[in-house]
Amino acid sequence: MKAVIPAAGLGTRFLPATKAQPKEMLPVLDRPAIQYVVEEALAAGADEVVVVSSSQKRSIEGHFSPDEGLCALLESAGKGEQAREVRRLGSLPVTFVEQPEPRGLGHAVHCAAAALAADEQPFYVLLGDVLVPECALLPRMLAVSRAHEGASVIAVMRVPPEQVGRFGIVAGEPAGGPGEDGVWRVTGMVEKPSREEAPSDLAIFGRYLLTPLTMRLLATTAPGAGGEVQLTDALIALLAHEEVYALVIGPDEGYDVGTVEDWLSTNLRLARRSPSFASLFDAD
Ligand code: UTP
Repeated sequence: MKAVIPAAGLGTRFLPATKAQPKEMLPVLDRPAIQYVVEEALAAGADEVVVVSSSQKRSIEGHFSPDEGLCALLESAGKGEQAREVRRLGSLPVTFVEQPEPRGLGHAVHCAAAALAADEQPFYVLLGDVLVPECALLPRMLAVSRAHEGASVIAVMRVPPEQVGRFGIVAGEPAGGPGEDGVWRVTGMVEKPSREEAPSDLAIFGRYLLTPLTMRLLATTAPGAGGEVQLTDALIALLAHEEVYALVIGPDEGYDVGTVEDWLSTNLRLARRSPSFASLFDAD
């Protein structure tokens, strides 16, 4: 199965840090955010990771390209471990497609259509600014999909009412099957609703397992909220043809790094749990 990582957005909520560097390349602890995302996709068994990037964001491509010159320098300086890590990053099955203009998440995913078309298989979408460091989520989503005849599955997280307007919010009912706590059958979705319009507190949270029909529907999805082509709108269209399920994830499973506040809080939360960095907080 292939995985698509949209990472071509402008990152306007993170300016000025993102003026000349992609927000997906900002470090979280000791590595760029997108490295966690690529490694999560590979840990879930993806055989190819297609990153949707833009001509302004070449450093993402650089991070996953071979650099034998740097490896040789590191080796001659006795830094064999770093050389191995640089070589490993350059050898991962990561390919790139370009989104010419940032026309929305749905448009970004559709930019990967040609890269996926060869197999017409279901595919994962992992947002480049959302981390799931424990990497356990995609396999659980795959299990839900398999239990429901290969249906699409989206990860959702409960959010407080004042935050519903930042996300796509799902309407649904518990799937109700044995062992299906936290699995919902989706009946509707609204992108960035007002507090009054929100059908639930379940916010779409950056991980999707989608059927090939979703990609075909994206080809004709018109711009929606904010004048952008919304993935949520294609999923609403999908509901007319196929079932869609949502898997509720816990607050410590997923981490947003799309704004300064979220990035900072993610760094602090992960640092406190990391064997390498937790001692920094000993004096707190
Ligand atoms: P966001 O909406 O969080 O990213 O999209 P953004 O548009 O860069 O952020 P702001 O609102 O300007 O601060 C979620 C993911 O989808 C990608 C982003 O790069 C991010 O990883 N994306 C978004 C695209 O690839 N293309 C787009 O047109 C929009």
